[in-house]
Amino acid sequence: MRHSPRPSRRDFTRLVGSAAGALLVSEALAPLLAQTGRSLRIGIIGSGNIGGAIGTLWAKAGHEILFSSRNPGTLKDLVTQAPKSVAGTPQQAAEFGPVVFLALPYSAIPQIGKDLGAAMKGKVVLDCSNPSVQRDGAMAEAARQKGSGVATAEYIPGARIVRAFGTINYKIALQNAHRAGDKVAIPIAGDDADAVRVASNLVIDAGFDPVMVGGLARSKDFDMGGPGSGKNTTAAELRKILKLP
Ligand SMILES: NC(=O)c1ccc[n+]([C@@H]2O[C@H](COP(=O)([O-])OP(=O)(O)OC[C@H]3O[C@@H](n4cnc5c(N)ncnc54)[C@H](OP(=O)(O)O)[C@@H]3O)[C@@H](O)[C@H]2O)c1
Repeated sequence: MRHSPRPSRRDFTRLVGSAAGALLVSEALAPLLAQTGRSLRIGIIGSGNIGGAIGTLWAKAGHEILFSSRNPGTLKDLVTQAPKSVAGTPQQAAEFGPVVFLALPYSAIPQIGKDLGAAMKGKVVLDCSNPSVQRDGAMAEAARQKGSGVATAEYIPGARIVRAFGTINYKIALQNAHRAGDKVAIPIAGDDADAVRVASNLVIDAGFDPVMVGGLARSKDFDMGGPGSGKNTTAAELRKILKLP
């Protein structure tokens, strides 16, 4: 998808203002997270435009959010606007709860995997970070070839990776969340059924319509440049585009 020129975090917070312990046992996650309406602790790594936007929508839906930055002091405006949210470091975000949202330049993912992979082990890790050769260099080309979902899973082994939210621009997300009528569809791909269910519920809580596309390998279908990226359409239309039943 095309992103508009990078606005600053201040642009993001203005827009929001105007618009509107690790779980180690896989079985423990399913009943805990299997339905919407439950408050989850979600750590956001990369609290810029899209991380700030989706985190704020989750906060408004009742989830507890830890927004992180390498300079947490810069997140003051964001945590003031998002209910029940706090600011912290990426390490604290990785440790905060059973769910982590990655919203980073894709080139940061390998180092995040090395530094924080142990803290994210067994957790549901939603990733919206899009490999862009222009921004991220040669590593992005390799990730695009195999698909971002497969690539992220290799960089963060042991995490339950789900690709979600990489297809929607943050301004469109903020403007269309919970809109009346058919919601904007958000495609999802993941290999872990429980994690996909959690992600699906979090898409609903953020105000969108989840479309399950398949395993991580299928995330390629909605990576930037793929047929399902940036369509901002309804679930029925997106299913047609992606030839899903
Ligand atoms: N913008 C959109 O609408 C949109 C939509 C869908 C997907 N995406 C994808 O989501 C990702 C983020 O996009 P964005 O527009 O939100 O970018 P952004 O506004 O620049 O935010 C990215 C955040 O990542 C953090 N960061 C950067 N390098 C880091 C590192 N090495 N370690 C830890 N944190 C680091 C920065 O936080 P600190 O400097 O504060 O630590 C920054 O706030 C990209 O991959 C993009 O393609 C964007």
